[in-house]
Order: sequence, then structure tokens, then C-alpha cells
Amino acid sequence: MNENTIKSFEKIIEMQLKRIENMKSQADFIDYSTLPTLIIGVLGGDGIGPAITKESHRVLETLLADKVKAGKIEFRVIDGLTIENRAAAGKAIPDDVLAEIKECHVLLKGPTTTPRAGDPWPNIESANVAMRKELDLFANMRPVKVPSQGIDWMFFRENTEGGYAVGSLGVNVTDDLAIDFTIATTQGSERIAELAFDYANRMGRTRVTAVTKANVIKTTDGKFLNICKEVAKKYPDISFDDWYIDIMTAKLVDEKRRRDFQVMVLPNLYGDILTDEAAEFQGGVGTAGSANIGKRYAMFEAIHGSAPRMVAEGRDKYADPCSMLRASVMLLEHIGEVELAKKLERALDICMYEEKKVVITGRDTGATCAEFADYVMSKIQ
Ligand code: IPM
Ligand code: MG
Repeated sequence: MNENTIKSFEKIIEMQLKRIENMKSQADFIDYSTLPTLIIGVLGGDGIGPAITKESHRVLETLLADKVKAGKIEFRVIDGLTIENRAAAGKAIPDDVLAEIKECHVLLKGPTTTPRAGDPWPNIESANVAMRKELDLFANMRPVKVPSQGIDWMFFRENTEGGYAVGSLGVNVTDDLAIDFTIATTQGSERIAELAFDYANRMGRTRVTAVTKANVIKTTDGKFLNICKEVAKKYPDISFDDWYIDIMTAKLVDEKRRRDFQVMVLPNLYGDILTDEAAEFQGGVGTAGSANIGKRYAMFEAIHGSAPRMVAEGRDKYADPCSMLRASVMLLEHIGEVELAKKLERALDICMYEEKKVVITGRDTGATCAEFADYVMSKIQ
């Protein structure tokens, strides 16, 4: 084995031990009510990102107009998180963009293109993944609701560990041997489990389900599961159970059983996969928003990618803005604007599921995202 392999392994272990120290010394959740001005950064991203982000930004500015006027909230548009800029900088997030991001408290972020091998772009790390790690956004909350089928799920996807923690630092030991790493820490598992149970408790939910593959991935998933079990003991009124990811994926299509799940907590990669499946029942990833929560920062985004094909075909203005509008509902809730969040959520339900007078098809056969956003605004009471 060559020296460099050992060095790479050492570097990864050191980085992770340092991350643990940072988690241990981290301050508690920021209290927005103590801030003179809450700064909301808006990043359009690329692909269909700018088109759909612009609309949710417009809706939020309208809803929060009074607070903006009073100087309590400030919106800041941050350009530069495009694939062209990221490729030119050779970084997932260019330094100047990151500096601007760090001056904000809350972010609304459009999808960003993730380069993969074979693309015209350098194979840099995903901007999503980099931002989640850089801002320590450890909890990815992804709700899925299908009221007509009794589905009301909240996924707590661990967002900084698992296969993603060093996903871009795998090692080609020899031409024949490639090794990636998956990581679980006590602190990282505890904080996501605690948030999931705390959420269930506050929202009057009665069940939390952990999803792992601890029968095979024994060390890391085993740690995650054990910690979930420990945290569950502090909540005797909430029933706790655990499933393996394979059967859980099957159970989500079991119409008799699936409505019984309520809050799910799971490592990063399983959360990535299961939430795309779950969103499909609600109308697809285009309808699903998410919150990435950390102690100092929070970022709200769609759960889907940047759909470069739509842009190449000139269809970006027909992209569905619902995912970003749903993310905006979560943003409003998160900053304490619960009434406004409810109003926007209600308007979205009317437009997406009940009245459906303006319909998005993704092509010129349907409405533009601006027309749809106007429709949603017209339903806000
Ligand atoms: C998501 C996306 C990202 C992820 C991609 C774009 C890197 O699929 O937010 O679920 O894998 O986390
Ligand atoms: Mg995903």
C-alpha cells in the first residue's frame, strides 16, 4: 500500500475528529427575536433555479413587506452560485459567495447543478452538500403530505454525515481498489435524533421511526440506531420503532401501512433516497420543499435538481415553482411567521390540489411559473 493512501486516511480521520470538537463547542440555536434585523439571503442557483427562486422571493417579499419596511427583515440577493462561477473558481462555493452567505441568517436557495464524471464541468463537490457541511445544517426536514390518503410524514434526514461527509474524498488505493467512507458520530446522531423527537413532541405526533441498515452496516448505522433508541427513552409518550431501509422503501408503497408512519429519522443517503420516493406520492419532487436546519444558519430549498434539460429546451419559465414555494412556507414557519406560513400553505393547497385553475405542465401547454405565483398570491387571504 502506498504512503499517500495512509496519508489520505489520516487526513479524513483528523478532519472528522476536528468536526466532533466543533460540534461539542457549538453554541445553542440562534434566537432570531434578539436580532435587530433578520437577513434573508436569496440564491437563485442555476438551471431552472433562478426562474423558480425569483417567484418565491417575490411572494416572500410581498408577505413580509411590513417587516421589511420596519427594518426587521432584510432580503439580500446573492449572485454567483452558478455552475459557471463554481467551475471557474474550482470550488463548490466560491469564497466571495460564501462570505456573503455567512452574513445572512436564513437562506432561500434555488437548485444548483451537481457535476458528475463525464460532464463538461470539473468534477467539483455539489454546492448543496458543501453548503450543508460548511454551515453545519445538520437536519434536513422534508415533509410529505397527501391528505386524501391520510399521509402526513416528516422526514429528518441527517445532513452532514453518512456517505456524504467525505463523499468527494474517497481514495483509489490502487487501479483496482476504490474506497469511500461512511461516517457516524455520537454528537451528529444525537442532535438529529433529538430534533426529530423534539419536533414530534411539539407537534403532538405519537410515533418516531428510525430507518437504517444496521443489520449490515453495523458500525455506523449501528451507532445511529443505538443513539435513536437512547433518545427515545426520554420520550415515553412517543412510540419508537426502527426499520431497515429496504423494507421501509417497500412499506412506503403499502397503502394499508404507510399512513401510520409519522416522523422518520434517518442517515443521510437513506434520507436522500426515501424522500424522493415519498415526494412522488405527493405529485413528484417538483412539489416538495425542504428545510436545512443548523444552530446558526438555516437554508430552504427544493428537494430536486436544476433540470438543465428544461433550460436547454428553453422551458425554464414553465418550471414548477411549487417546491420553492413549499420551502418558503417552511422558511416563514422557521422565522416565527406562523400565521403567514399557514396562509401561504393554504393558498398552495388550493392552487395545487383543490381549485387547480392555473396548471403547470413544464411546457408551453401550461402556465409560466410567474403566472402560477400570481395565482397563488391571489389566493392568499
Ligand atoms: C437532494 C439532492 C442532493 C443530495 C444532490 C443534488 C447532491 O439530491 O437535496 O436530495 O444528494 O443531497
Ligand atoms: Mg436527493
